[in-house]
This record gives sequence, structure tokens and C-alpha cells, in this order.
Amino acid sequence: MSHSHSAASAPSVLVTGGAGYIGTHTMVELLNAGHNVVCIDNFSNSSPEAVRRVEKITGRQVTLVEGDIRDTDTLQVLLSQRPIDRVIHFAALKAVGESVSRPLAYYDNNIGGTLALLAACQQAGVRRFVFSSSATVYGNPQALPLTEDAPLSAVNPYGATKLMVERILEDMCHADPQFAVVSLRYFNPVGAHDSGTIGEDPRDIPNNLFPFITQVAVGKRPHLNVFGNDWPTHDGTGVRDYIHVVDLALGHLAALDYSAQQSGYAAVNLGTGRGTSVLDMVHAFEHATGQRVPHVVAPRRAGDIAACWADPTRAERLLNWRAQRSLEQMCASGWTWQQGNPDGYRRS
Ligand SMILES: NC(=O)c1ccc[n+]([C@@H]2O[C@H](COP(=O)([O-])OP(=O)(O)OC[C@H]3O[C@@H](n4cnc5c(N)ncnc54)[C@H](O)[C@@H]3O)[C@@H](O)[C@H]2O)c1
Repeated sequence: MSHSHSAASAPSVLVTGGAGYIGTHTMVELLNAGHNVVCIDNFSNSSPEAVRRVEKITGRQVTLVEGDIRDTDTLQVLLSQRPIDRVIHFAALKAVGESVSRPLAYYDNNIGGTLALLAACQQAGVRRFVFSSSATVYGNPQALPLTEDAPLSAVNPYGATKLMVERILEDMCHADPQFAVVSLRYFNPVGAHDSGTIGEDPRDIPNNLFPFITQVAVGKRPHLNVFGNDWPTHDGTGVRDYIHVVDLALGHLAALDYSAQQSGYAAVNLGTGRGTSVLDMVHAFEHATGQRVPHVVAPRRAGDIAACWADPTRAERLLNWRAQRSLEQMCASGWTWQQGNPDGYRRS
């Protein structure tokens, strides 16, 4: 374990998986808002450099623990030695395709890790919990926009882990009336912090549209594959609800505030409520950055859905949060990050 100590002695927020894409952006907003932050990460999909950059952006220190949330001893020591009163739980494996080929790794890490974390929280009396869920829990949507009451289903092992963890958290809330959980169902986070020093750092060929676009624009890949132009959407390409990662990060602060005032379980969509097609995104990117994004139409991918976007009204009502940033801001910030860090954090 490596530690750096933060100055103030007010209780800290424990952030699991804080070195990752969404975790780094959330830690920046937590630190800027005056919270003390303890981060645990095993760096299976990230690097300590990302946390150093969070400290640089904010001028504040993160207490960084290198460890695995499945390691009960590490968690117990962590929670007993530090005044931690709430948890934001990002740590998980997240590649849908890999979850199909390595289901055990996903169930072990995502469910086993959460069970170990919850047991340690229960023992330490930590009862406020914000969980990274996903719009994938809606499976193949029957009606749009998606409200939180839409039917839930898992179409792959990754989605099954999110659905199962939501269920476990809901059961915890039934068992302990003081337990407060907000499951945040993210739509499609993209973009980067305005500083351009933190951002998404995919290890392999990205599965998601946005990092693929930026890698094409930077010249790492010859063209973008558009998987199908015969979907039942306004231009035939797949439609998603892209949300700026900084807006998403701020949603976590709103959820923390809510969980301080309300016990019980709440599932809340974090999206913009707007559907953007692949071609809309390509055009917005070209417009925002002046870069061309050559693209070719390829067959549909197995498992993809035509369209998905959020009804974000519950987040407005319960959390007093709404997404503020435009598609152009998502594109411009993502491009600044990619240009300054063509190999992600590995160059540093
Ligand atoms: N990025 C998305 O599009 C998206 C969408 C919906 C939900 N989510 C969820 O949000 C969360 C964060 O996603 P992200 O995009 O920042 O992913 P990420 O891979 O960048 O971050 C996850 C972090 O967790 C760490 N980690 C994984 N397993 C761990 C373990 N057992 N112990 C300690 N650390 C561990 C990784 O090293 C990484 O730093 C995940 O739970 C993911 O499933 C992401």
C-alpha cells in the first residue's frame, strides 16, 4: 500500500476504481467541492499517473491505496484506519465482449468485489453508497425514452453483474433501514476534463464509438466502422444518449448529497435525454474540431440495439441535477485529451 496524507481530518469519501475514466473525473469534482478522497484501485485497467493528474488539476492530495476490493483484509484495514463515511463504487470490469468470453472473471470481480466491499462497509458502519450502474440493465428497450421503471434484463454477463449488484443493494436497503443507496444508470459517457490532462484511455481497440472517432482523427486508425445504416432511426445509424463525463461526475456529487438526506434505495438515470446517431456524432466531431473522420459502413454487430436514450426527469427531481454540456463540448474536450495524450497515460 502506498499512502499520501490529506490535510484536513473531515470524513472522507472512499472511491473504488477511482483511477479509471469516470473515477478520475469524479475525484476532481469531489476535491474541488472540498471533500477528502480515499481511492482504492488495483490498476487492472488504469495507472497511478491518472491519480497524480487529478492531484495536479485540483492542487489537492488523494489518499491512494493500491489494492483489490476483493481483498477483505485490505478493505478492513482501510475502513478501520480512516474516517470514511460514504462510498462511490466504480471498480468493475466493463468490456461487454470480454464478459461473454470470460464470464467468471466478470462475476468474480464485479459481484464478488461488491460483496466484499459491502461486508466491509457493514462492519465499519458505512451506510451511504453510490453505485455505477448502466443503461445496459434495460436490455433491449421496448419504449423510449427509458424511465427507471422500464423492464430490466441482462443480455450479457457484464449486464448481469450490474443487474445483480443493483438487486443486492436493494436487498441491503430492505434489511437495514438506515442504508442509503443510489444506483446511477449511466448512459454513454464521453469527452474529458477541460484541462485535457485526464480522459478515457482504452487499452485495446475501443468498442465504443467516441474513442474510436478520436483515434481515427489522430491517425491511429484509417477509418471508422459504422455498424449498420439500416437501423430504424432517423438516419439509419445507431442512436445513443451521449453524456459529458464532467456532467456525469457532477451527478455523483448530487447523489452523495441525496444519500446523506434520504435512506433507502433509488435507481436514477444519468443521461441528457437526447438521442444522437453515429453520423450525428461524426458531424459534431468534425464541426467542433475541424478534423475529418473517414467512415465506412460495416454490417451490424451482434448484440447491438437500434436506439437508447434516457428520460432524465428523476435525476432532476431527486438529485436536482441535469446535464449541462453540449455535444460540441464533448467532442472538443475529448479531442484535446487525445491530441495531448495519443498513447493515453503510458507516455508519462
Ligand atoms: N464507461 C462507460 O461507458 C460506462 C457505462 C456504464 C457504466 N460504467 C461503469 O462505471 C464504472 C467505471 O467505469 P470506467 O469507464 O471509469 O471504467 P475504468 O475501467 O476506466 O475504471 C474502473 C477502475 O476500476 C479498477 N478496478 C477494476 N476492478 C478492480 C478491483 N477488483 N479492485 C480495485 N480496482 C478495480 C480499474 O483498474 C479501473 O481503474 C464501472 O463500474 C463501469 O462498469 C461505465
